[in-house]
Amino acid sequence: MNRLRRLRQSPIIRKLVEETTVSVDKLIQPFFVVDGIKAREPIPAMTGVYRETPDTALAQIEKDLEAGVRSFILFGVPSEKKTDEMNFDFTAEQVRRIKSRFGSDLFLSVDVCLCSHTTHGHCGILDSQAHHVQNDQTVKTLARAALAYAQAGADCVAPSDMMDGRIKAIRETLHENDLDETLLMSYAAKFHSKFYGPFRVAADSAPDKTGKLKDRATYQINPANRKEALLCALRDEKEGADILMVKPGMPYLDVLYELSQKINKPWAVYEVSGEYASIELLARENLISAPHAHLEAWTSFFRAGAQMILTYGARSAREYLKNV
Ligand code: PBG
Repeated sequence: MNRLRRLRQSPIIRKLVEETTVSVDKLIQPFFVVDGIKAREPIPAMTGVYRETPDTALAQIEKDLEAGVRSFILFGVPSEKKTDEMNFDFTAEQVRRIKSRFGSDLFLSVDVCLCSHTTHGHCGILDSQAHHVQNDQTVKTLARAALAYAQAGADCVAPSDMMDGRIKAIRETLHENDLDETLLMSYAAKFHSKFYGPFRVAADSAPDKTGKLKDRATYQINPANRKEALLCALRDEKEGADILMVKPGMPYLDVLYELSQKINKPWAVYEVSGEYASIELLARENLISAPHAHLEAWTSFFRAGAQMILTYGARSAREYLKNV
């Protein structure tokens, strides 16, 4: 008889035959720095995650480094909201402060998008009637943001807007400014998901429901479309992305598997706010063990082909690993 249970007899043999292993150096910690708040604010259902002030962000990063986290992604939330000609100084200043304090102890990525900067919460610049997002004008502004963050010392810029041609524009802008070392991580297969709910509270970026454009369906990928996700990823790879991403994670494991098989680039996956919060909420009801559930989710991402995970739980990973 083919006895597959022979290899499941003890923790030691189970560990030896384990095919994928979670470790904190494969995780990227997202964090929010918000302009104009006096104290840091918790985010609903997002245990251990805050809207940080510039000072509390530095203190939190220090704690995270002690917890073994080395990679971070910054979301800057300025207080000034505009419809055009946005200013990226607030986020660039955070990059400068963080890098001058911690240098190469951390790898700092910066999310590049306009949704936290606009009055209407969309990821781009609208036409005069506010009926649609203007692609090419938005791309120019995104390239300006990416340049500001790279010049401030970001190790990596990560556009999450889903406009066409932004990877090429950003890569060219970085090149023209002698910033060829800066990594470019593309949110290549970013779906029009309902799992971004808690994030939009954190980043002040929910689309305005009173306008003509009520959601992000005209720029993010339809959750039903696998082939379209592949087209986006192939395009972004060609345009010069160093790392490609699938987002969200768990509902899109098939996409992550297929794309990482077909495109030989490092793959990241974003376990988004709603995914993280759903595990935390189940744990609060004593229906699930949070450490085990987070590790199971992360294991599924590695098994499906990810090399790295953006997750709000990165700073707790060591604790989780100790407890299982
Ligand atoms: C902004 C952006 C979003 C996320 C990352 N960058 C939200 C959105 O598209 O509305 C989601 C992250 C999360 O839910 O954790 N474009």
